[in-house]
Amino acid sequence: MYPTEIAKDIFLVGAIDWNIRDFHGYSTSHGTTYNAYLIKDEKITLIDAVKKEFADELITNISKIIDPKDIDYVISNHTEMDHSGGLPRVMHKVGEDKPLYCSKMGYKNLSRHFPQKWNYQPVENGQELSIGKRTITFLETRMLHWPDSMFSYVKEDKILFSSDAFGQHFAGLETFDDKIGDAIMPHAKKYFANILLLYSPLILKLVDKVTQMGLALDMVCPDHGIIWRNDPAKIINAYVEWSNQKPKRKALVVYDTMWHSTEKMAEAIVDALGQEGVDAKPMHLRSWHRSDIMTEVLDAGAIIVGSPTINNGLYPTLSDFLTYMKGLKPKNKIGAAFGSYGWSGEAVKLITKELEAMKFRLIDPGVKIQYVPDDQGLEACRELGKKIAQALP
Ligand code: FEO
Repeated sequence: MYPTEIAKDIFLVGAIDWNIRDFHGYSTSHGTTYNAYLIKDEKITLIDAVKKEFADELITNISKIIDPKDIDYVISNHTEMDHSGGLPRVMHKVGEDKPLYCSKMGYKNLSRHFPQKWNYQPVENGQELSIGKRTITFLETRMLHWPDSMFSYVKEDKILFSSDAFGQHFAGLETFDDKIGDAIMPHAKKYFANILLLYSPLILKLVDKVTQMGLALDMVCPDHGIIWRNDPAKIINAYVEWSNQKPKRKALVVYDTMWHSTEKMAEAIVDALGQEGVDAKPMHLRSWHRSDIMTEVLDAGAIIVGSPTINNGLYPTLSDFLTYMKGLKPKNKIGAAFGSYGWSGEAVKLITKELEAMKFRLIDPGVKIQYVPDDQGLEACRELGKKIAQALP
């Protein structure tokens, strides 16, 4: 598949990672790609590298177009190791003294990862680099999603090399959006929900800034997944919508269970929500991966969380999920807690505290039931479901 000429003299030269299934805690059930781009101009320029294990594949792909030592400039849009792990191998082949362009934070961060004294050329936001017929403009995108992140824009081709932004963890033979259609959107949504959600306010500011700059975009080339060429506005508009986090009339009941009591409670809550016309589903934490739950959290209006009490605390899967969700800072949610217990019953209180810390609007003090829910207990769960339904938009 590689190299693929995506525009005249601009090539996709990355690698497909078909088999990765865990990307630092995110389930990559469809693998991913590490996209790098080669521009053949008077100064041959490589934008980004790949994960260390794929460096030789990148070199092989580049070698099908030019001798890697003929590369004049290397650009690193982002330090994270899935794009920079292959840099030592690349720089060895290209020439350790070749200019390596990165943001100022990129310089700091790359230097902390690699001992080599490369010819770093830290750039300012808006700085331009002429490579011949083309000019590359560097746009700092600090904290989207690392301090070093930046975009590289080629105005002559109207191409934005957007680093992680607008990417998807998706391994496939379809290079472009028009080859896969809407089937890519769930992957883009999962990527946003698990990597970028906490930076939503920055994304809205960035989109405003790019709109004001009037950047013409024929193509958006992220470092993961497919390239947006048919309709780049589609993914940008989706980012605006996801960043706004407008809650839908949708509820998730996220829980774990020890002897099925909390499960019965979860299902009673879901049943009541459904009766009230809410798009609701139970999400058992040992049946759903945390990253798939976060994808659903993105547009849900209500998150109801349940745990049995074990050893005076939460079920471990709940601690995992609540920590993960808290870090991603979802906004505009309502919530409540529930759970069964034997004798001490701390779980509901502990969940409630966590949801408060996440600034969820709590709809109820929570429902706790000793040992096994009877009819009255299940009715209390249904009442909780009704209350949530009434509070949703
Ligand atoms: Fe794809 Fe932040 O690395």
